[in-house]
Amino acid sequence: MLNISRSMPSTYRDVPATELATRIASAKAALGDRLMILGHHYQMEEVMVFADVAGDSFGLSQKAAASQAEIIVFCGVHFMAESADILTADHQQVILPDLNAGCSMADMADLDQVEQAWRELAEVTDTERIIPITYMNSSAALKAFVGRHGGAVCTSSNAQAVLTWALDPNREGSGDKVLFFPDQHLGRNTALELGYAAESMQLWDPSRRRGALSEAAIQDATFLLWKGHCSVHQRFTVEQVREFRSTHPQGVVVVHPECSAEVVAAADASGSTDFIIRYLGDLPYGVPVAIGTEINLVQRLAAANPDRIVVGLEDMVCPCVTMSRIDAAHLCWVLEEALDGRIRNQITVAPETAREAKTALDRMLAIV
Ligand code: 13P
Ligand code: SF4
Repeated sequence: MLNISRSMPSTYRDVPATELATRIASAKAALGDRLMILGHHYQMEEVMVFADVAGDSFGLSQKAAASQAEIIVFCGVHFMAESADILTADHQQVILPDLNAGCSMADMADLDQVEQAWRELAEVTDTERIIPITYMNSSAALKAFVGRHGGAVCTSSNAQAVLTWALDPNREGSGDKVLFFPDQHLGRNTALELGYAAESMQLWDPSRRRGALSEAAIQDATFLLWKGHCSVHQRFTVEQVREFRSTHPQGVVVVHPECSAEVVAAADASGSTDFIIRYLGDLPYGVPVAIGTEINLVQRLAAANPDRIVVGLEDMVCPCVTMSRIDAAHLCWVLEEALDGRIRNQITVAPETAREAKTALDRMLAIV
């Protein structure tokens, strides 16, 4: 198939929503088993209704790895589509309907910065004893770095298992220190859940020499947490948890672990997007719930539970703007182009990077 990256023609923007839906359904039906559409839980409803599988970043990576489809349309963000390309066979093509769908958190750590950090760490400690762990929300180049240095990828649904694996003294190749990037909050929340003290963690500031840490602080730390965050999840506050509890004394609060440790501690539970869905489903019916995560998922859960109180922890929370780049128009365009034999917006990872990144992803898939 001809493989071209190009922007969507502007004519698609003028197509009414009902026509887009009909055309997507028809292109999807015509592509049949050749196609698989994966949809992350943060996607807009106009896209999600066409997903063959809805899931969190871990679940979707598993589905991609197991898929036989020739064309995989990933309705999510760039790092997810990259991981899908790494985990699928060479003849399978992964499409991200809008190439602008990135992740601002993933952009907070790049390969140069991580390699610089590794060199600076080597000045004061034995890097053979450091296990680098990257959150799925990172570029393929960082996953490859981790693969080269004996580490693994993790997602919000398996971070506990991956950190336990990294520091397991009975495992050959384990370490006694973890460099965790790019999300400080997932790293901190997971280490706290595993029972590590806050004092065992240090924040690594990539913009400062040696992370702005003293030699002793680096040597004593078990966790070096990269100073990155999610702009959506950092909006949730302990005050919002308090307000919800004062209005709904019987209510419960569940949040994503990209929220700060204070918010996670104030909540009743925290976990991946998939976890949040299951948690809500398992609660007794009359219990009001406030959810601290991206608004598209919260609104979908509220709509699916019209006679329950299901609200966002913050009323004004914005959607993840990059996730929202994937709309029905882009989905329609890439499907119709694929039907005509043109693969648009294919995500391909260079072979050497893909090989090393796959090592890190395979380790994760084997751990959990
Ligand atoms: P999940 O790992 O829960 O899918 O979350 C990914 C993400 O980007 C959350 O902001
Ligand atoms: Fe990235 Fe945050 Fe959007 Fe998730 S919600 S994709 S971490 S910017």
